[in-house]
Amino acid sequence: MKQEDLRWLVCPRKEEARPCHGTLQTEQAMSHWDEDPREILEAILRCDGCKTTYPVVCGIPILMDELPQYLRRNYYFMVGSCRAQGSLSDEMQAALLNYVLLDLKTGEEELFPTARRYTRETQLDFLTEIGPYLCNHYDDLGSAVKPSNPLYEFLKAYSTRNPHAILEDFAARCSNGSQGLALDIGCHVGGLTALQAQRSRFVFGVDVSFENLLLASRILKGRPKRMDRYRHYQEGKQYHWRRLHAPSCQNIEFVVATGGNLPFKASSMDTVSSCNLVDIVPQPMKLMDEKVRVLKKGGLLLLSDPYEFYGVMFKRLETRSRKSPLRIIKQRMANQIRIVQEEDNVPWVTQKYNRSYMIYYNHCLAGIKG
Ligand SMILES: C[S@@+](CC[C@H](N)C(=O)[O-])C[C@H]1O[C@@H](n2cnc3c(N)ncnc32)[C@H](O)[C@@H]1O
Ligand SMILES: [Zn+2]
Repeated sequence: MKQEDLRWLVCPRKEEARPCHGTLQTEQAMSHWDEDPREILEAILRCDGCKTTYPVVCGIPILMDELPQYLRRNYYFMVGSCRAQGSLSDEMQAALLNYVLLDLKTGEEELFPTARRYTRETQLDFLTEIGPYLCNHYDDLGSAVKPSNPLYEFLKAYSTRNPHAILEDFAARCSNGSQGLALDIGCHVGGLTALQAQRSRFVFGVDVSFENLLLASRILKGRPKRMDRYRHYQEGKQYHWRRLHAPSCQNIEFVVATGGNLPFKASSMDTVSSCNLVDIVPQPMKLMDEKVRVLKKGGLLLLSDPYEFYGVMFKRLETRSRKSPLRIIKQRMANQIRIVQEEDNVPWVTQKYNRSYMIYYNHCLAGIKG
């Protein structure tokens, strides 16, 4: 990450439910990209207010409120995946281990509760799981299927009518060309973030998953090592290598953070987007409130979701009044956001393998903060 990009970030540490939002400074710079002192590869950041520190790993700041708990769950996988990229110093590994040991409540508390290891098997599972996402974000589903596929015509049209394309279309229609600072929350491997980068001065991609962001960074920034192809699974263990059609974006920064507690200054963003996120976060309303908080007056809010909320997740949105989840979400932002574009039944298609597809019908909207 660039040293100068710290000016947009704030401390997410919560004290009695109130986030600190102090400014962040580099306390200790450990290594840089290409020997360029402005490009942080590994560092420790410190909050000017509460003095909490946060690591920057592989150029990605980890700005989580409950950092030790986060690192206990993710330590092995982070260390393994950074090492595989040849991008983790002993100094940073020791710093991460120190965080892991912080705040342990009792001697019995498990150090690495459900920690995944970075092994050949977990890596293969990860690549299998991530394939459909990479296809959806950076490939053309229509060109990956044969004309004999019953969905062939539908999938051919999909590249121009999917939630990412529709949100981008809204953004192009709502703004006069290029926009300043953008934020894409729950950005995963970064497809929508990359589209935003084409028309924004600068974009932040936020996700709770370090491994997804590392992949996004490899695809869009070529760092630590460029990734330009992926495994597209057919069936069983068969897969094809396919090219990722991704632009090279140097105006993107990725940050590990949660949508319910964004480490950004209030009223700092010209565009804030989230796609396929509202229905999977524990506090959907908090996510909406945070989107509105960080948006500038006159800024553009983009939202697309299938509002699935079924099964165990269902209770996460208060739907007792029989209002639809979409209506509840709209009511939440009604005081501050004027909806200017809407489109319903926009398909989001995931091909798990060549005999299995999952299709959601998303609602997409664009609104302006008044
Ligand atoms: C279903 S994927 C959607 C990805 C992408 N926006 C898209 O449209 O394909 C959800 C992503 O949100 C991330 N995520 C889950 N909970 C989150 C949270 N509370 N804050 C930020 N990201 C979150 C997941 O790690 C995952 O990458
Ligand atoms: Zn702080």
